[in-house]
Amino acid sequence: MWVMSDVPFDQKPDKQRRGPPLLSCYDSLEDSCAYAWLMLSRGVKDARAPFHTPTVATVDAHGQPHMRTIVLRACDPEARRLRFHTDTRSSKVAQLAQNPNAAMHFYDAQAKIQLRLTVRLQPLSGDELEAAWAATRPMSRECYQVTQGPGTALQAPHDVTFDAAATDDGRDFFVPIGADIQAIEWLYLAAKGHRRALFDFQNGGTKLQWLVP
Ligand SMILES: Cc1cc2nc3c(=O)[nH]c(=O)nc-3n(C[C@H](O)[C@H](O)[C@H](O)COP(=O)(O)O)c2cc1C
Repeated sequence: MWVMSDVPFDQKPDKQRRGPPLLSCYDSLEDSCAYAWLMLSRGVKDARAPFHTPTVATVDAHGQPHMRTIVLRACDPEARRLRFHTDTRSSKVAQLAQNPNAAMHFYDAQAKIQLRLTVRLQPLSGDELEAAWAATRPMSRECYQVTQGPGTALQAPHDVTFDAAATDDGRDFFVPIGADIQAIEWLYLAAKGHRRALFDFQNGGTKLQWLVP
């Protein structure tokens, strides 16, 4: 029987080193990158997938970062773009108008995979806005029918008012945000040894690089 003092401090005993079976992409940069795109795409389609609700961080005019959870609405691996929806009056919209540089964070605790994305955010307009609105369900539209801007101070919680007619069903304040991916940092935790890599898409190319975990 092993005792804790027999085990080097940075290693777990064999008994505890067994984790889930390793993904076949474990030692391949190309396959890890492809798997990252698969996970992002699944995050759009599967509301129960951990990647469905990532965190987006923007920076305000004072350099102060702000993070929030959003719902991932679209993933286009060809265009290297993600999309989420929000309210035109929200703080994040003001922040990205001043500074489009942002970050997105995804973590799947079961797969033990974290993605950290460097993105540039932009409000989408024209056909992209129309298509996104057309695909929005009535329940989602309600969020945008609130007459006071998100984050407005209230005397009491029931002072918040919704008015479908006054907000064109919510359309007035709805905006899809495109997140153009500059880079993805991959981290795959595994008992056999962690794997960390950078998938850099800047300047129209794809550069894949292993990193020290
Ligand atoms: C599970 C979950 C999903 C959310 N999805 C969205 C979303 O898709 N769009 C959005 O604007 N806010 C969403 N929110 C609310 C944001 O996290 C945030 O509170 C709100 O957008 C105000 O952020 P801001 O003041 O930084 O702009 C979600 C919150 C949770 C907990």
